[in-house]
Amino acid sequence: MPETTPAESTRLDQRAEWNALAEHREKLGDTHLRDLFAADPGRAGRYGLRVGDLHLDYSKNIVTDETLRLLRELATSTGVTELRDAMFRGDKINFTEHRAVLHTALRAPRDAVIEVDGHNVVPDVHAVLDRMSDFAERVRSGAWTGHTGKRITRVVNIGIGGSDLGPAMAYEALLPFTARATDVRFVSNVDGSDLHEALRGADPEQTLFIIASKTFTTIETITNATSARTWLLDALGGDASAVAKHFVAVSTNAEKVAEFGIDTANMFEFWDWVGGRYSYDSAIGLSLMVAIGPDRFREMLDGFRLMDEHFRTAPIEANAPLLLGLLGIWYGAFFDAQSHAVLPYSHYLSRFTAYLQQLDMESNGKATDRSGRPVSWQTGPVVWGTPGTNGQHAYYQLLHQGTKMVPADLIGFARPSAELSPELAAQHDLLMSNLFAQGQALAFGKTAEEVAAEGVAAELVPHRTFHGNRPTTTILVSELTPSVLGQLIALYEHKVFVQGAVWGINSFDQWGVELGKMLAKRVEPALTDGAEVSGLDASTADLVARYRELRGR
Ligand code: F6P
Repeated sequence: MPETTPAESTRLDQRAEWNALAEHREKLGDTHLRDLFAADPGRAGRYGLRVGDLHLDYSKNIVTDETLRLLRELATSTGVTELRDAMFRGDKINFTEHRAVLHTALRAPRDAVIEVDGHNVVPDVHAVLDRMSDFAERVRSGAWTGHTGKRITRVVNIGIGGSDLGPAMAYEALLPFTARATDVRFVSNVDGSDLHEALRGADPEQTLFIIASKTFTTIETITNATSARTWLLDALGGDASAVAKHFVAVSTNAEKVAEFGIDTANMFEFWDWVGGRYSYDSAIGLSLMVAIGPDRFREMLDGFRLMDEHFRTAPIEANAPLLLGLLGIWYGAFFDAQSHAVLPYSHYLSRFTAYLQQLDMESNGKATDRSGRPVSWQTGPVVWGTPGTNGQHAYYQLLHQGTKMVPADLIGFARPSAELSPELAAQHDLLMSNLFAQGQALAFGKTAEEVAAEGVAAELVPHRTFHGNRPTTTILVSELTPSVLGQLIALYEHKVFVQGAVWGINSFDQWGVELGKMLAKRVEPALTDGAEVSGLDASTADLVARYRELRGR
């Protein structure tokens, strides 16, 4: 058991601070954001925070000074800052796997000292970063060539979950910063179509595979990597020595990498104290580094570090991850909000929310507290969303007039990508006016009186009324750069941390994904050669039989 959290002693929902919040919620009743703004016009200025390049406006949340004070007291009483310090120190706070949680060491400066079991891990981090930089430069410059001496023009990252989502998201986000000459693809799905599409038009002599897997045992990744190797060797006349110039690995497991046939000289290491979903700024980001170059990658790490330092040192009244975490707890516990939308008004952040889904839902999708007891409060929300304005023409109807409260983050940038032509750049104001309009409409809605005053027929008034009072937090930034991306990701990493700490759960294991993996292994022989599989329930057995029939087996 960790020596780090007092949250275990008293059940969260039996804490005085929790009960105080419940009473406060009762008192707030139906208080509307319209009332809160009318009573306190200064809240827009006061409920804002500047961290690095990010401006957070949280004034459109259903909170008062009293709410925020009570939430902070909850954080204090549940030991969030103590657990935070333990994480940064390298304590083994992931107690179900006996591991430290040190993604923050991945962006620590060279001279920092962070110890795991008495060993300073910072020099190891920088040694790998230096090797990555050297390799990325060689691929980018053409000094690293394929087996037949041609330069690399396509890089295919094969990985899944944390070994895919981070670099894939960041590659999209930072496209304007990439060397467009190299085409970087991401293959994760064991559906053969994924690899098929990634290799269409690829020249095997110019293709480099990065096999990214923390464990190097993940069935999807190893299956795709094996198929990729066959594709390469078939094209290059079966000469197995070609593998060395076309396959590199990113892993914690040198033994498995060697077993697969990749020379461990071509392996980029990371460590068990980096969780998969917290790993894209480790060697897992190699594909990204090839795309954007080592200098940009380091700028991104600086952005992460900026937010780490803020989280570690800012007072709790002005601590952005703490604030975002507490707001989520407030809505989940006292407004029964089941989900949380993240809505970036940026095409380049098209995969941002998909990335956050793993970060948040794999971390806090837990129903057992740190002392092994079932929780009786809401934990992690369903995280979802796509870039605005596309979502506005799809699911925003429910956000505005549905029966569910969906707190949302709206993320926008003042400046469009520098790559855009003046005409395309001019569209940016329209994009951002949508962001501002949505926050306004969600918060303040439109009353029946306002609708009627527009001359709307009486029978249509109820249909055209917007209740409003739907909370949003707006994150406004000048432009999307590598550093800003690092700041944003670290903001959400630490927000997830705060929530897990208050809820008293372990945010760093993921036992919930194991059962499905184990069952898939058991079912597969029944699909391929009709093997008798014991223990199949009647429904699954029927589906398997139908599948075999449809496959003509
Ligand atoms: O889905 C479970 C999981 O273990 C994730 O946590 C992880 O990011 C992913 O699988 C991939 O694992 P690996 O990097 O070991 O292949």
